[in-house]
Amino acid sequence: MRILIVDDEKIKRVTLADDLTAQGHEVDTATDGEEALEKLRGRPFDVVVADVKMPRIDGLELLRRIKQGEQAPATEVIMMTAYGSIQLAVESMKAGAYDFITKPFRNEDLLPLLARLEERRRPAAGRSMAPPSLGPEVERELIGRSPAMSRIKKIIEICTRTDANVLLWGETGVGKDRIAQTIHRHSHRHEKPFVKVGCTLFPSHLIESELYGHERGAFTGADQRRVGRFELAQGGTLYLDDVDDIPLEHQAKLLRAIEEKVLERVGGTELVQADVRIIASTKKNLLEKVGEGTFRQDLYYRLDVLRICIPPLRDRKEDIPDLAEELLTRIAKSRAFRIEPEAIAALMEHDWPGNIRELYHTLERAYLLGSEDITADLVRAQITRWPDRNNKAERWTGGSFQETIEQTERELLETALQEAGGNKSAAAAALGMKPSTFRDKLAKHGLG
Ligand SMILES: Nc1ncnc2c1ncn2[C@@H]1O[C@H](COP(=O)(O)OP(=O)(O)OP(=O)(O)O)[C@@H](O)[C@H]1O
Ligand SMILES: [Mg+2]
Repeated sequence: MRILIVDDEKIKRVTLADDLTAQGHEVDTATDGEEALEKLRGRPFDVVVADVKMPRIDGLELLRRIKQGEQAPATEVIMMTAYGSIQLAVESMKAGAYDFITKPFRNEDLLPLLARLEERRRPAAGRSMAPPSLGPEVERELIGRSPAMSRIKKIIEICTRTDANVLLWGETGVGKDRIAQTIHRHSHRHEKPFVKVGCTLFPSHLIESELYGHERGAFTGADQRRVGRFELAQGGTLYLDDVDDIPLEHQAKLLRAIEEKVLERVGGTELVQADVRIIASTKKNLLEKVGEGTFRQDLYYRLDVLRICIPPLRDRKEDIPDLAEELLTRIAKSRAFRIEPEAIAALMEHDWPGNIRELYHTLERAYLLGSEDITADLVRAQITRWPDRNNKAERWTGGSFQETIEQTERELLETALQEAGGNKSAAAAALGMKPSTFRDKLAKHGLG
C-alpha cells in the first residue's frame, strides 16, 4: 500500500518508514499536517498514519481535511495518540479515522492493523466474513434508550471498529459481561473465541496457570499440560472480569502478556505468541487503587484505552420499562405474559442496588408466582428490601454485641442470596465480598 507517515518526532517517523518499507509498502513521510496535505494533493495515498499532536495543522485537523477532501473515501487514516488521551482517540474515530494506536508502541504493532485494512480494501471475493453490522442488532442486544445508554452504544460502536483495549466500569449487574460480548460479536475478531476469566474466582497461586497455562510437571498436581486462557482466546477477545482483583504480584506478568503479546506457560521456557484483544471489567475505581499502590499504573494505562462507564440502573430509570419487557420475554421464553402498567410504575420506584440482574430475578419470581400475569402487588412483594440502615434501634433485639452482629450477618447473607436468585457468586458480588469468603460465611451459619 502507499502509506504516508506524519509525525513531527523524527525517530518515530524514520524508523516507522523503514519498517513499513521493509514490509513491502511504498512509504513517504511528512513532519506536520501542512506538509502532509501538500503531499496528498500531489498523489493519493491508501493510508495516512498521523500523530495527533503536531505543530501547525495537528492530526485531528488533518484527519478532518482528508475526510472532507475529494479523495476522502479512498484514503484511510490511522491516528497515533498518547496513552490516557481517550477523548482524542474517541474524537478521531468519530471524525472518521479507520483506527488508532496508542503511543508508545512498537512498529510491528501497526502491522496487524495495516493487514486488516489491506484485507478490507481487497475486492470482496475471498475475504473473510465481515462482522454483523451494529445498528438494529445492538438495539436488541442492549436495551435502553436513556441518554446514558445512547452514549454507551456510540462508544461501543467505536470499540467494535478498533482493536484497542477496553475498560468497563460499573456496579454489579449493570451489564458489563453483556457489553463485552456485544463488542466481541461485532468486532473483526467475531469468528474467533471470546474467553472470559473471572479474576476473583480462583486462588492466587492458580492465576498464572489459569491465564498462561502450564507444562506437565510444572508443580505438584500438574500431571497434564494445560492451555491457558490467553492461548484459548488466540485471535479473539480475552475478557478479564474484575481485573482489580488480580494480586499485585501477578500484574507484571499480565502487563507483559498484554504489551508484548507473548507469554510463557508456567514451568515452560518456550515463548508463546498470544494475539488477543483485552476487555477488562471492574466495579472499583481503578485509579484509586493505582493511588493506593495496589494496582500498577502501567497496567492501568494498557487496559484503560477506551473506557465505558456504565451508570447504575437507578440513574437511568427510564430504561426500566423496555428492560422489563425484554427480560420478561427472556423469562417467559415463548409463552405469553402480561405486565400491568402499575407494575412498571412499582419497578420504577425501587433503587435496584443489584441493577439489571436484580430486576431480572425479581421479574422471574413475579412471573413464576403470578402465572404469567404480573401485577403491581406481585412486583412489590418480590422486590427485596435490604435491611434498613436508618432503623438502627430496631435491629437490636437485646442480645449481646456478638449475637447481634451474627444475626445481622445471617440476615444479610440470606437477603443477598435471595436477591441473587440463589446464585452465590452474584450474591457475594452484591455484598462486595469474595465468593470464597461468602461461601465460608454461609457454611458458618449453616446456610450453605
Ligand atoms: N442493556 C441490557 N439489555 C438487556 N439485558 C441486559 C442489559 N444489561 C444487562 N442485562 C442483563 O442483566 C444481567 C446482568 O448483566 P451482566 O452479567 O452483564 O452484568 P455485570 O455488570 O457483568 O455484573 P457483575 O459485575 O455482577 O458480573 C444479565 O442477565 C444481562 O443479560
Ligand atoms: Mg460480570
